[in-house]
Amino acid sequence: MLHPNLSLNEKGHLTIGGMDAVELAAQYGTPAYIIDEDMVRQNCRTYRSAMAKYFGGNSRPLYASKALSCTGMYHLVREEGLGIDCVSGGELFTAKTAGFPAGRIYFHGNNKTDRDLCDALDMGVGTIVVDHEDELRALAALAAERGIRQRILLRISPGIDPHTHRAISTGSVDSKFGRAIETGQARAIVAEALSLPSLELVGLHCHIGSQIFDIDPFVDAARIMTAFLGELKRDLGFDCRKLNLGGGFGVRYTEFDPVIDYADAIRRMAEVVHTLCAENKIHVPDILLEPGRSLVAAAGTTLYTVGSVKEIPGFKCYVSVDGGMPDNPRYALYGSRYTALIANRAGEEKTETVTIAGRCCESGDLIGEEMPLQPARRGDILAVLSTGAYNYSMASNYNRIPRPPVIFVAGGRTTLAVRRETYRDIVALDQL
Ligand code: LLP
Repeated sequence: MLHPNLSLNEKGHLTIGGMDAVELAAQYGTPAYIIDEDMVRQNCRTYRSAMAKYFGGNSRPLYASKALSCTGMYHLVREEGLGIDCVSGGELFTAKTAGFPAGRIYFHGNNKTDRDLCDALDMGVGTIVVDHEDELRALAALAAERGIRQRILLRISPGIDPHTHRAISTGSVDSKFGRAIETGQARAIVAEALSLPSLELVGLHCHIGSQIFDIDPFVDAARIMTAFLGELKRDLGFDCRKLNLGGGFGVRYTEFDPVIDYADAIRRMAEVVHTLCAENKIHVPDILLEPGRSLVAAAGTTLYTVGSVKEIPGFKCYVSVDGGMPDNPRYALYGSRYTALIANRAGEEKTETVTIAGRCCESGDLIGEEMPLQPARRGDILAVLSTGAYNYSMASNYNRIPRPPVIFVAGGRTTLAVRRETYRDIVALDQL
């Protein structure tokens, strides 16, 4: 199986964290997102221990909660001792509702509104990651009005395009996020931040991209950011205490995707940070990482019920399920590949190659094409693997389809983390 928590039981059914997927589908209905909580916790611990080992005790992972945001997730990562990254008022509110300690929140975004900034200040968000000068000035004024000194990081672009990372590409300078080292704007915003008494600049942040398997670009980003810290120390006397190197490690969606050793990637990043700090005679800052996908993607499985199975002679076979782009828009948006299987006959060979379609009124509503699958029949339970990240969090009500529930499984028990939306929920906002 693609992930170690998936297996087969004596009935030939798929099991997720030891629980029968067909029984889960019967209990909760379909479509449903199943999240293996034990696996998420294990992933949190891998990050925590590797970061403590290679970066030191005050370094920690922050869960990039855009990957899967719901109160249950904030409870879980809090218990695991992680901080969090929030990118909107909605994520902040969800974290607050879950009682997540505000001091451990990092608030991101390239275009935070004044309302967002006020909400963050009033809620006592620990650190705001400032994107550009306008935001810096607006935040400084709002913090001064409140008589507080707000901790901030600055978002910096190290000029790395993870796909052509060896060349310091101008492409990444052309980004809506942060300020680039290459243009001199990064240095200018650091100097300005240091002059603002209502803001306390504690460090810098960068994030080079997502679903990246090659570790070299992460190491390069760590090198460039640390060298920049040396420059800032020499020229501006700035002592960086926190260096946030973002998220972005890839996960396996299919058997063709490589396996990444996250702990080893962290070791390599730490090596370069330590070397560059020594060369530049600066203190090693606490390192923060912001994994989203690599904490939750592999822990998620979406269960659907198969409806129509249509063979078009000479073309293809469409297997339609009771979900689709409203619960997983990633194939429609990015052409993302997934692995699927028939959960109630998971031990059988995948002899077919099919297109898995949703039930929306548009032909682009697909979960995937050319997907190997066991012969499917109406009523089968279809499992799509690695859907824990950017599925529920990107779900919509297109065609007025209610969003599926999120179910956590742990130690042979299930917990409903998010209930299924109802048609009533869907009309609840309509006023006329
Ligand atoms: N930190 C920052 C500032 C980010 O922008 C992101 C992701 C992360 C951390 C977490 O990255 P991760 O470890 O999850 O790769 N919707 C897309 C993914 C968008 C990622 C956006 N930023 C998808 O479904 O593939």
